[in-house]
Amino acid sequence: MKKLVIFIVALICCTQFCRSQNDPGMPQLVKQEGITQLYVDQKPFLILSGELNNSSSSSMEYMKPIWKQVVALNLNTLVTPLSWELIEPQEGTFDFTLVDSLITDARQNNLHLVFLWLASWKNGMSSYMPLWVKKNYKKYPRIKIKNGETREVLSTLAEANWQADSKAFAALMKHIRDFDGSNHTVLMMQVENEVGVLNDSRDRSDAANAAFNAPVPKELINYLVKNKDNLLPDGIKKYWEANGFKTTGNWEEVFGKSMYTDELFMAWNYAGYVNKVAAAGKKEYPIPMYANCWLDPVDNPKPGDFPSGCPEARLMDVWKSRQTAIDMLSPDLYASEFDYRCQLYTRLGNPLFIPEMNSNDEGAHNVFVAIGKYNAIGVSPFGIDHLKDAGKTDFTTSYSILGQLTPQILANEPKKEMVGFVLNEKNPVVTCEMNGYRLEISLDELFGHKSTLGYGVVMADGKDKFIGGGVGFRVKFFPLEKDSKAIIGIGSVDEGKFKDGTWIPGRRMNGDEDAQGEAWRIGFSQPVIQKCTVYKYE
Ligand code: DGJ
Repeated sequence: MKKLVIFIVALICCTQFCRSQNDPGMPQLVKQEGITQLYVDQKPFLILSGELNNSSSSSMEYMKPIWKQVVALNLNTLVTPLSWELIEPQEGTFDFTLVDSLITDARQNNLHLVFLWLASWKNGMSSYMPLWVKKNYKKYPRIKIKNGETREVLSTLAEANWQADSKAFAALMKHIRDFDGSNHTVLMMQVENEVGVLNDSRDRSDAANAAFNAPVPKELINYLVKNKDNLLPDGIKKYWEANGFKTTGNWEEVFGKSMYTDELFMAWNYAGYVNKVAAAGKKEYPIPMYANCWLDPVDNPKPGDFPSGCPEARLMDVWKSRQTAIDMLSPDLYASEFDYRCQLYTRLGNPLFIPEMNSNDEGAHNVFVAIGKYNAIGVSPFGIDHLKDAGKTDFTTSYSILGQLTPQILANEPKKEMVGFVLNEKNPVVTCEMNGYRLEISLDELFGHKSTLGYGVVMADGKDKFIGGGVGFRVKFFPLEKDSKAIIGIGSVDEGKFKDGTWIPGRRMNGDEDAQGEAWRIGFSQPVIQKCTVYKYE
């Protein structure tokens, strides 16, 4: 009898495991025409999210009002912390109550989740490791920095550290698979949070010093040799080239003696560790996983002022060289050079997901750039639970427009028939080619009144047809052929909205509203969606 019960339990587990491993609807990244999209239930999905403050999701009571709050902001996903200390309070004893409650409440509110695995590191520190790890510092070694100072930061160099983290993460992923494997509420996992050494450029523990003075691992050298022509010019290649492309020697012999070599060394070790943890989780439930980054300053970055070894755009080659389970390197994009940073993080075929960004109105405008110009699979302002009044943030309207236009956005991404932008006095015009025309998109103006801010997305919507959403801009159309005498007229402009995917037209926009037929105006007053048809005449 006992044997029969064991057999049946094993059979159920095996069936569930196989089902989730072979489940075509499981969240996954799909690449077509060079563009990567997130697929859920076999359909592309655009993540319109927000990240909770660090401690909010540790209490379901605290979360109670937040669910409705974020639904009012038009989010479809919530980026939600989970901590190692609460999931494995005693070694080997797991508590998934919180995980199940978060998933259940998300489902009730029609939301998806991206979970953050706050475990070995969060903002470079190790405050989320359980107390039994904190206390057992002999088994779970910490880093040392200059002057021999020990920091409360797990060392990447200790196998016991990544083994313990991996075990817990694997248990979590197995549990998510069992609880959510057929619902797909949970879309992706962030593994750790903003890893790297602070206050020095590298770990100087004995184990770290030994690895630093040992030959650069063959795997890295092989990667560099194999990808020599395609390495990023601002990354490891710069130091490797300056030292004569050596293929043997220790880290300083191959890359020179500088804080940037220390940073390369840390990137190699953090990337190895994080990929090991992610791989242990993916063995149980292989949904997309990413590592996020605390961004360095553009000028004169000094590793250690920001976490040294974090997946900075400069370090993407090193991180990719260890890529076994991490699918994306994701910038926490608070920096002012929003467009530039998006561009840096879409190099090497890296799909863009922005797990953290400003939750102010500037952030609410920048989401159009991330999605419309850089095909981001998702965006997520940080501290979303602070946005208590949906009427007082531009995120509500930005997400409403992006939510309504999601089918068009996802269909146009692989066709590259889309542009997203923010226009202001410094950047008043963008031009692009799309759908057989050249488009000039500029700050709107009427009778001498000029808008100072415009933002939105414009896409193809069939032959001679366009659709767009946003505020404060106008579009003029020109023929693609330089010597063409054709003039492109505005055939019609309709305001409207999508309800459950069906277009409900509103006003026919003519007269002042389309500059007497001279431009497609998505005017100053409030963010809207419009369709425009054009025609040619001579
Ligand atoms: C970046 C971290 O990843 C977040 O958890 C949080 O600490 C924010 N910084 C605060 O701005």
